[in-house]
Amino acid sequence: MKTIIEPFRIKAVEPIRMTTRKERREKLAAANHNVFTLASDDVLIDLLTDSGTGAMSSEQWAAIMRGDESYAGSPSFERFQAAIRNLMPFDHIIPTHQGRAAEAILFSILGGPGKNFPSNTHFDTTRGNIEAGGARGHDLLIDEGKDPANLHPFKGNMDLEKLENYLQEHGDSVPCVMLTITNNAGGGQPVSLENIHAVAEIAHAHGRPFIIDGCRFAENAWFIKQREKGQQDRSIPDIVRDCFSVADGMTMSAKKDAFANIGGWLALNDPELAELARARLIQTEGFPTYGGLAGRDLDAIAQGLTEIVDEDYLRYRIRTNEYIIERLDSLGIPVVKPAGGHAVFIDAKALLPHIPPLEYPGYSVAAALYEIGGIRCAEIGSVMFGRQPDGSEKPAMMELVRMAIPRRTYTQSHADYIIECFAELAAKKDSLRGYRITWEPKLMRHFTCKFEPL
Ligand code: F0G
Repeated sequence: MKTIIEPFRIKAVEPIRMTTRKERREKLAAANHNVFTLASDDVLIDLLTDSGTGAMSSEQWAAIMRGDESYAGSPSFERFQAAIRNLMPFDHIIPTHQGRAAEAILFSILGGPGKNFPSNTHFDTTRGNIEAGGARGHDLLIDEGKDPANLHPFKGNMDLEKLENYLQEHGDSVPCVMLTITNNAGGGQPVSLENIHAVAEIAHAHGRPFIIDGCRFAENAWFIKQREKGQQDRSIPDIVRDCFSVADGMTMSAKKDAFANIGGWLALNDPELAELARARLIQTEGFPTYGGLAGRDLDAIAQGLTEIVDEDYLRYRIRTNEYIIERLDSLGIPVVKPAGGHAVFIDAKALLPHIPPLEYPGYSVAAALYEIGGIRCAEIGSVMFGRQPDGSEKPAMMELVRMAIPRRTYTQSHADYIIECFAELAAKKDSLRGYRITWEPKLMRHFTCKFEPL
């Protein structure tokens, strides 16, 4: 059959409150035109993030009941640890309340002034945790990964020559080499198995540990199976094990590829580092057999990890993105290609060339989508990155709009609805106008700043 159906049926539903266009216009004005400050009840299709927004399965809800809330030595932890080790064979598994807590612990041990951390692209919270301790993070992505239209199959790859030069230049100031799979900030683009192995080899040749930020590891493995030569006959768990077998540790947000609403972990092989991490964990998160989580969360994650590597699920998951991208493409909407794992990215600079970067074309797309169809998505452009530490403002490298797709939450008709909204947006794109910021906080302005349409 050609039609790829959602490989699940629906047992519990969460009604969407329908709104009129007039209502949405008023809501947006009342929110000072910032979609982040809208109440989620006023949103029809929420594509702000794929993090913690997925639907749990009936087996995960059953696991929630199975959860054991003992302070120490809970069997929920045993199941959590076994499910992780089945895919990622690390010696020490340290539960945390989400991904950034794992990062905070890792960089509190490895980071500090004068230290340097390379990655393909650090996610915002990773960079934030590195910089908070006085260290610096550097992104060594291949050039193809920076071009929205380039069709390279692994646009999340690290540039190996740059890594080699980086390690020679920075020497002992590099406590570890990192790699984010998939590369969220670059459009959910995957990293090839070959690149993962090569990065590990270079890091180890320089005596540096190799740590993977594995938030979307299953989507990455699916792309390896689909796009990398010689990988087609392997199972997804087998590919996942291969990716992590060359690493010395990982950070993880279970809110992504573990189907949980909360959770994460730090995994390490080095016993001395793990001991330091556990000491820090007890101070900031909790006892080592629950971290920052309830026993029931540990069980939901353990079950989620058995479901995320299912090929029927991954085929449907990635096909949803491809389906939306193909149709947006035929409407003439510039999108980041090829399809990434968790999100569809719109190139707002190419779509709205009449709006200068500092009148925020990405924001104009986000606001128009909300007004047209109640869709909420995030600008990843000059609103997010434009304000410089010295107070000046400069355009971001790209003006993107991210539509992150929550896991197992929306159906094909929601996808068709999104496409229909874009058809209207395409028809009136020349009449869209830019925005002006009337108020902003000192840091992270995109969450709370106030806008005025121009
Ligand atoms: N690493 C990557 C690649 C991420 O995408 C995220 C979160 C984190 C680390 C941090 O994990 O949220 O559990 O603390 N990304 C979310 C997003 C927030 O919307 O892309 P966390």
